[in-house]
Amino acid sequence: MKFKDLREFITFLENKGELRRITTPVSWDLEISEIADRMVKQGGPALLFENVTGYDIPVLINMYGSEKRMAWALGVEHLDELVDRFQGLLGLIHGPPEGLLNKMRTLGQLVHLGSFQPKTVSRAPCQEVVLKDGDVDLFQLPIIKCWPMDGGRYITLPLVISRDPETGIQNYGTYRMQVFDGKTTGMHWQTHKVGTRHYRMNQEKGITRMDVAVALGGDPATIWTGSAPLPPDMDEMAVAGFIREDGVDLVKAQTSDLLVPAQSEIVLEGYVVPGEERAEGPFGDHTGYYSMEDEYPVFHVECITRRRDPIYPAIIVGRPPMEDYWMGKVTERLFLPAIKLILPEVVDINMPAEGIFHNLVLVSIKKEYPGQARKVMHGLWGLGLMSLAKIIIVVDHFVDVQNPSELAWRVANNIDPSRDIMITSGPLDDLDVASSTPKFGGKVGIDATQKGPEEGRQREWPPDIIMSQEIKDLVDGKWQDYGIQ
Ligand SMILES: Cc1cc2nc3c(=O)[nH]c(=O)nc-3n(C[C@H](O)[C@H](O)[C@H](O)COP(=O)(O)O)c2cc1C
Repeated sequence: MKFKDLREFITFLENKGELRRITTPVSWDLEISEIADRMVKQGGPALLFENVTGYDIPVLINMYGSEKRMAWALGVEHLDELVDRFQGLLGLIHGPPEGLLNKMRTLGQLVHLGSFQPKTVSRAPCQEVVLKDGDVDLFQLPIIKCWPMDGGRYITLPLVISRDPETGIQNYGTYRMQVFDGKTTGMHWQTHKVGTRHYRMNQEKGITRMDVAVALGGDPATIWTGSAPLPPDMDEMAVAGFIREDGVDLVKAQTSDLLVPAQSEIVLEGYVVPGEERAEGPFGDHTGYYSMEDEYPVFHVECITRRRDPIYPAIIVGRPPMEDYWMGKVTERLFLPAIKLILPEVVDINMPAEGIFHNLVLVSIKKEYPGQARKVMHGLWGLGLMSLAKIIIVVDHFVDVQNPSELAWRVANNIDPSRDIMITSGPLDDLDVASSTPKFGGKVGIDATQKGPEEGRQREWPPDIIMSQEIKDLVDGKWQDYGIQ
């Protein structure tokens, strides 16, 4: 299962009965969003709106909106297949533990050394039509407004491409973009993201023009990599190639040296002036709350390239669960082997939809010594974007962190709040709504593992209640006789 571009994926989903074409006229103004919200919450199909009032470009939404579709998007029937491949790759990393950074670098090198490098091509479907100067008008695209209090229309599923001014390595990130007018948008580069890092580096170097390109649509694995929290010097396209088992075709942009995925539907080319910022928002966000106005860089669009008959990809975020939950679930699964490499006691991790990734992280560990749960908390708080986690709950290896009932039962029973809750502080996600000041605030770690005497618990741990196998067998054998069913 391999998809060259978005349309191949659409055909595949349609053949599987997982996509509906909607020909009834719909508005970009909240209507698509309301329909998509209902479908996501019901586990419904991907939607292709073919008749968006005022536009002849169709809008695709909810393509990733289930575990099954997300797996297909990455070219596998079940995500476990991909997790196994990642695990195999990590197995290649030998040698003594030299620290997280070195391990991640080695991983990066391995991916780069892989045979699925991006390939540069000279002709590309995404450049069939080239619009410059007076022909540049973002309102020619069916960009949707998602929620009533939103500050405007937002591009919600972009692959924003920028370049590290020192290494030349490109970054591809999914960051929303508010349309200010036909030629400018906001660039919602949050504090801890790689796009922001590039922006800051350009600013520090006194560079006055930072080239940026934005790819819309493309093969579904490549689009997904924009949301993956890869280390800064790791090229998302190498990872996309590894996932697809085929290098991503890249083409030089028309107005800069940036390389953009050739199979994109639409590409916006332009620049950001480091230091030029303006109010962006409000926006109905992943948290289920509006993110209110804040200052963010401005993206100036100089050129739009596109296919002759482009498809516009969109997504909405809002009160969970939303489509992005499935995108994040893949990240959780694929990054688990890498986390285990650094923290070998980790058995499983669950970042439930309600916790929108950075708010709540549930971890099970194979505990071997006192204080190990706290070691894991600190380890996770030192690990890339996991540093933004607000609540980390650690349980023993035999607790299924994917089962909310089991987890709540164990946690509520196992903790003595005066002993097992660790309050600390650190960096927080820009989207956090509770902290006293933006970007920094409190964090809590809850150690719900079974504690021993060294951890201050002098009593014996009581056994779990489990019926004897003899009685279970007896009841199984007589089940029909009871006449209950
Ligand atoms: C649908 C969607 C929208 C997102 N919007 C933003 C955003 O506006 N700003 C942001 O910084 N991160 C946003 N993210 C999260 C980033 O894509 C994610 O943190 C990713 O790792 C960033 O890439 P980077 O690590 O290369 O910076 C969004 C993710 C998804 C799935």
